[in-house]
Amino acid sequence: MYSLVSPLLMRMPPEASHDLALGALRWAGRLQLDTLMPAAVSDPVDVLGLRFGNRVGLAAGLDKNADCIDALGALGFGFVEVGTVTPRGQPGNPKPRMFRLPARRALINRMGFNNEGVDHLRARAAQRRWPGVLGINIGKNKVTPPEEAVQDYVQCFEAVHALADYVTVNLSSPNTPGLRDLQLGEALDVLLAGLAASRARLADEHGRRVPMLVKIAPDLHDEDVDAMSARLVESGIDGIIATNTTVERTAVAGLDHAEEAGGLSGDPIYARSVEVVRRVRAAVGRDAAVIGVGGIDCAERALAMVEAGADLVQVYTGFIYEGPALVHACAAALRDERRASLGLARPA
Ligand code: FNR
Repeated sequence: MYSLVSPLLMRMPPEASHDLALGALRWAGRLQLDTLMPAAVSDPVDVLGLRFGNRVGLAAGLDKNADCIDALGALGFGFVEVGTVTPRGQPGNPKPRMFRLPARRALINRMGFNNEGVDHLRARAAQRRWPGVLGINIGKNKVTPPEEAVQDYVQCFEAVHALADYVTVNLSSPNTPGLRDLQLGEALDVLLAGLAASRARLADEHGRRVPMLVKIAPDLHDEDVDAMSARLVESGIDGIIATNTTVERTAVAGLDHAEEAGGLSGDPIYARSVEVVRRVRAAVGRDAAVIGVGGIDCAERALAMVEAGADLVQVYTGFIYEGPALVHACAAALRDERRASLGLARPA
């Protein structure tokens, strides 16, 4: 089905085809068409104290407002991460702000956290029927000065706490000025302390400790990846998502749109994302979960990401180019590999 629709979608401007596809998914959810979809690959795995149906998730940024959880979940994902959400709704950057680089099966985006705000997301997440693992990715409003960023993150965390299976603290979007500076030094310490205090209070009140992950950029220096990973574990962070998009352009030099400002995703970031995952795993040992994301567009790459140390993987750009078949292919390959390593037969 996707192979029929995809050429039409690819002929439209990228954001318009995104919006159309999301609109269709929203309707599919409302009409409960998701209940007619084939079952997801079953490969249950326990990570972060949660049971994931399989190890392939949807990365943040596609369903920023949690409008399509049921329909997306029905496409075979083991987990879906919605957001990034900010305390107040905001329009994001002026359009055009998303570009295709088809020769490298890549995208550049500078969306800038366009979203309806955390109250909208919360209302939508509360209505979900899909029983899989839901991650909620939180950020700060553009107008919030960096020294007040912690308040935005804490506000979002408190708002989504009851609805999220896990929360991702996004410190790595290149499209909110100053955001990535929160990954380092004192700014990181202040943020982690604020979130830890909020989480401890909510855990006392509600008797539930929500796993908290931090999503990092591929553009950190190797030493900063190592130091930051260790610092995150020390401060009680449960997992690290590596990586977000890159501001590097070497891999796409000379292609149309290569010089657009924003974050590059897809095939060109795969090698660096795997390298960062490997470094993060080496730094955290078994003390934190690692989710690998960046350029996964086939089953072999999902397997390689896990081999590099990821417990789970996520897809975004590969999913745009390949469609839902990618989710099933990756999940099935990871299941078969795990079964083979345990000496079990492949399911029929
Ligand atoms: C993203 N990504 C992203 N990440 C995030 O944490 N919050 C967000 O709001 C967004 N928004 C967003 C929009 C668009 C159009 C793209 C392409 C990407 C980053 C995404 O989740 C992922 O980390 C990277 O895209 C790398 O994975 P892929 O796309 O190479 O599979």
